[in-house]
Amino acid sequence: MKTKITELFEIEHPIIQGGMHWVGFAEMAAAVANAGGLGLITGLTQRAPEDLAKEIARCKTMTDKAFGVNLTFLPSVTPPDYPGYIKAIIDGGIKAVETAGNNPAKWLPVLKENGIKVIHKCTSVRHALKAESIGCDAVSVDGFECGGHPGEDDVPNFILLPRAAEELKVPFVASGGMADGRSLVAALALGADGMNMGTRFMATKEAPIHQNVKDALVAASELDTRLIMRPLRNTERVLDNAAVDRLLAKEKQLGAEIKFEDIIGEVAGVYPRIMRDGDMEAGAWSCGMVAGLIHDVPTVKELIDRIMGEAHEIIAGRLARMDA
Ligand SMILES: Cc1cc2nc3c(=O)[nH]c(=O)nc-3n(C[C@H](O)[C@H](O)[C@H](O)COP(=O)(O)O)c2cc1C
Repeated sequence: MKTKITELFEIEHPIIQGGMHWVGFAEMAAAVANAGGLGLITGLTQRAPEDLAKEIARCKTMTDKAFGVNLTFLPSVTPPDYPGYIKAIIDGGIKAVETAGNNPAKWLPVLKENGIKVIHKCTSVRHALKAESIGCDAVSVDGFECGGHPGEDDVPNFILLPRAAEELKVPFVASGGMADGRSLVAALALGADGMNMGTRFMATKEAPIHQNVKDALVAASELDTRLIMRPLRNTERVLDNAAVDRLLAKEKQLGAEIKFEDIIGEVAGVYPRIMRDGDMEAGAWSCGMVAGLIHDVPTVKELIDRIMGEAHEIIAGRLARMDA
């Protein structure tokens, strides 16, 4: 399949693996790259720029194909060493970066000077337009269904994607709720040039996370995610568990008075305990409603080949027959 996204990133299939904290290691990015998609190492999961440089080098031993890096810009008291991470990306010869969180304007000139294509992930048309205006090459449009941070506007992809198509000139991918060939064809029909998946890629053989997490995704239904941190305007969609129930009870009890410190035990530093150790009650972890569409744990190549096969069958079979 040829779209503006496959051309921009020089990939075979219009499928991107979004940055995922404690999931987006070299194994994940390489498996997606080897299967013809755009795989991304999650920059900030690496403690320091030197670790990211090593992770990029490690990924190169696993694939000859190009892969990218996700850089998430979060508001924080002591910001990570972003210039250092960007240097590691440039020195590592990376040619694709997914930015997310705050406006990446400050970092765009140096990325572009080094021939790096930038796709910014955002959850609203206004932020997508901003990303376009500052020179991003593409946008990843994350609907309300998505795992992780859906923003505060709560617009699902059936509205958000065609709205993005109405306004944007740069190509965009649909993100949030994408799982299979149906998602891809729907995304293309709504105006996107590809799709980005997070949660679905976690339930693959190569995803370098504990089997308990994969089992939880297969067991979960579309009713099992919750929105946390709404009162802090830092909404996150997570899979329900005991820690999430505790956190939501605190939100209810403290109302508008709640502070980050009140819930720190449920959210801070929990990713390694969940993703690496498989302690499923350790805290809140990002998960999309798409969990309801995840019924197996294939290899990444099986997943991507299946998506492309289904997409072809829908376009050239089911839809073509209807249109005859
Ligand atoms: C476990 C997990 C961790 C994530 N961590 C990040 C992150 O560190 N940075 C980021 O930009 N997006 C992160 N995301 C969001 C994904 O990149 C992607 O936008 C989202 O998962 C898409 O929705 P989906 O899960 O419905 O496919 C994370 C998602 C998950 C499921």
